[in-house]
Amino acid sequence: MKVLVTGNRGYIGTVLTPMLMDAGHTVEGLDSDLFERCTFEPGGAMPDVPTVVKDIRDVDVADLLGFDAVLHLAGLSNDPLGDYHPATTRAINFEATVHLAELAKLAGVGRFIFSSTCSRQPGTPAR
Ligand SMILES: NC(=O)c1ccc[n+]([C@@H]2O[C@H](COP(=O)([O-])OP(=O)(O)OC[C@H]3O[C@@H](n4cnc5c(N)ncnc54)[C@H](O)[C@@H]3O)[C@@H](O)[C@H]2O)c1
Repeated sequence: MKVLVTGNRGYIGTVLTPMLMDAGHTVEGLDSDLFERCTFEPGGAMPDVPTVVKDIRDVDVADLLGFDAVLHLAGLSNDPLGDYHPATTRAINFEATVHLAELAKLAGVGRFIFSSTCSRQPGTPAR
C-alpha cells in the first residue's frame, strides 16, 4: 500500500516508518518537524522518505490524494504540553485531526488509523 505517516519524524514515526517499509509498503511523511536538529548524530538517523514539512492545521486535500492509508501520529503528545497551552493542543490534536480525517475521506483514502492515546482532554481533571 501507499501510506502517509503524519508525525513521521517523531518518536513513534521514526520506528514505524522503517517497519512499514520492511513490510513492503511505500511510505511518505508529513510533519511540521518540531524536533528538527534534535537527532542523536549529525544528519540524524531519520528514515529517508519523501516528507512534506507542513502543519496538519494547513493540510489540504491535495496532500492526501493517492494514498491507500493514513497513519496519523502528528500531534502534541503529552499531558504537560496540553496543560501548557490547551487551545493549541485542542486545535492540533482534536480539530485538525478531525479535519484531516474528513479530507482523507474526501481524497478517497480507504483507511485512517489514529494512534493517539487520547489520554486526557485539555482542561479535564487528571485521572
Ligand atoms: N510515545 C508513546 O509511547 C505513545 C504511545 C501510544 C500512543 N502514542 C501516540 O502516538 C502519537 C505520536 O506520539 P510520539 O510519541 O511519536 O510523539 P512525538 O512528539 O515524538 O512526535 C510527534 C510528531 O508530530 C509532529 N507534529 C506535532 N504537531 C504537529 C502539527 N501541528 N503538524 C504536523 N506535525 C506535527 C512533531 O514534529 C513530531 O515529529 C501521539 O498521538 C501519541 O499520543 C504515543
